[in-house]
Order: sequence, then C-alpha cells, then structure tokens
Amino acid sequence: MTFTHRHLLGIEHLRQDEITTLLDLAEDYVTLNRATQKHGDALAGLTQINMFFENSTRTQASFELAGKRLGADVMNMAMQASSITKGETLIDTAMTLNAMHPDLLVVRHPHSGAVDLLAQKVNCAVLNAGDGRHEHPTQALLDALTIRRAKGRLHRLNIAICGDIAHSRVARSNIILLGKMENRIRLIAPPTLMPSGISEFGVEVFDDMAEGLKDVDVVMMLRLQRERMDGGFIPSSREYYHRYGLDAAKLAYAKPDAIVMHPGPMNRGVEIDGTLADDINRSVIQDQVEMGVAVRMAAMDLLARNQRALQGGAA
Ligand code: NCD
Repeated sequence: MTFTHRHLLGIEHLRQDEITTLLDLAEDYVTLNRATQKHGDALAGLTQINMFFENSTRTQASFELAGKRLGADVMNMAMQASSITKGETLIDTAMTLNAMHPDLLVVRHPHSGAVDLLAQKVNCAVLNAGDGRHEHPTQALLDALTIRRAKGRLHRLNIAICGDIAHSRVARSNIILLGKMENRIRLIAPPTLMPSGISEFGVEVFDDMAEGLKDVDVVMMLRLQRERMDGGFIPSSREYYHRYGLDAAKLAYAKPDAIVMHPGPMNRGVEIDGTLADDINRSVIQDQVEMGVAVRMAAMDLLARNQRALQGGAA
C-alpha cells in the first residue's frame, strides 16, 4: 500500500500514486455505501472527534457518517458552546481532547495553517476539513473521484475552475491535485477574485467565461465566499451572474458532454443557474456528495492503518 502519512493536512503532501491508492479504496466504499448493510470495521474501537470551528453542513455530516459506517465512536464537539468562547486557545482545547485519547481528529478552522499547527501538538491522526483559504483535501479528493467516474480517467482533461478563486481552499486543493494528475487547468474569474501570482501553478488564467470554457471537459463552479470578503470585490450579484454565473448558454461553450460541479453550498442565481444545477444529465453535484462519504471513509481507513503500523500492531 502506498500511503504512508500520519495526517491528511493537504493535497500538497500527497504523491500521484498515493492519490490513486486513496481513490481506489474509496471505490470499494462507494459499493459498501450502496449496499443495504453499510457497516465496515476498519475503525472499530477507535474514537473520532469532529471539531468544526466554522459552520458546515455536508462536510461534517459526511465525516460523521463515514466514521460511523466504519465502526468508530464519533463525537461532534459543539465549538460555539465550547471553552473557546471563554478564551481558551485552539491548542489548549486540542491538548484537552488529546488527553482523552482520540484516534482521529477532524478539524475545520477559519485560519489558514491552524490545522497544521494543531497536528504538531497531538498524538492522533489529524484530518483537515478546511483551514481558511489554504486547503480542503477531502473535497479535492471527492471531486477527483467524481471526475474519474464520470470521465473514465483523471488525466489529460481540460478542467475549468470558475468564480471566487481568491478566497477558496477548494480551488487551491483542486489546482494542486488536478495538476499532480496531469490535467490542463483553466481558472476563470474577475481580476478581483483571481489570486496574484497564480500562473506559477501552471494554470491558464481567463476573465471571460466564453473564452475560458471553450472545449473543457469539466466545469467546476465556486461559491462567492462573502464571509472572506472585506470590501467591494464584485459590483453586484446580478452583474456577477450575468458575467460569471453558469447557465445553459455559457455551458454551451464547453464540450457537449462536459460535466458541471459545485462543492456546495450553492448560491442559485449568483454563481449557477438553479435549473442547470439540478439537471442530472449535466450536473454531478449530488454525486460529489455521495463520493464525499466514500473518500472520507478511505482517508480515515488509511490513516488508521498507518497508526496501527506505527504502534507496532498489524498494518
Ligand atoms: C466548501 C468549504 O467549506 O470550503 N464547502 C464544502 O466544504 N462543501 C466551499 C464553500 O464553502 O463554498
């Protein structure tokens, strides 16, 4: 097995063969999740704690379900109600939890780098469920699995990532992953939402949807991350939709069989037309949610195996 990490902090640490190992294992979990009896035992006896310092619907639910399906005891910390609001630092909270001997810590935090810092302080495996605008590795992995299943491969595809790239950890993790798997990546955004220096990542940059979407195989839309904007990044939602919102007319520039993706939560009528998002012939948004559970099961399974190997047990 080629996946030797203690933590899953970002795609930047993974090699191409490790990404493939994880996606292949996730395929087994897609099958398990579609069966009537959905229980595996890869995490039996282990304790998983989910610490979400930012709101989340699908990511938290997905990690919780993934842990439960594999037999872990799963605890969701209500971070708003925790001692953090009384001034305890992130590290103090982590150390307190660490003393309870968890095996897996799933952490989402508004600050880039906070999850890496925490991983240096605890004894268990840490999974990054999104840190600021830095990384969201399981999202990129579930996107990769969705693309691989829809297109039959995960290399030599033309993939457009569109919208609020500057504030998006989803975009960052996807750019790294899809680049490692040797795809051609195009970024489409208004100049105010395009990070500076991004072309160093080997991507093509566009500010016009008609040009950027030409002949792409995959169109990945991003949410406008207003909570990370402190000024006028866009003129108005209506103007933004007109220029950058994905609808059937703009999708017509892409290949006829191009798929439409969105990590959720969606702003219908802002970055994507609601009817297109629901069109099962083009949109794979629900598949992304399904793949999310399988990818998180695979990620936690691999980390638990490595932990056992480190402790000298059977690998
Ligand atoms: C993303 C996130 O939180 O980074 N959502 C998710 O995990 N499904 C993207 C977003 O919030 O827009």
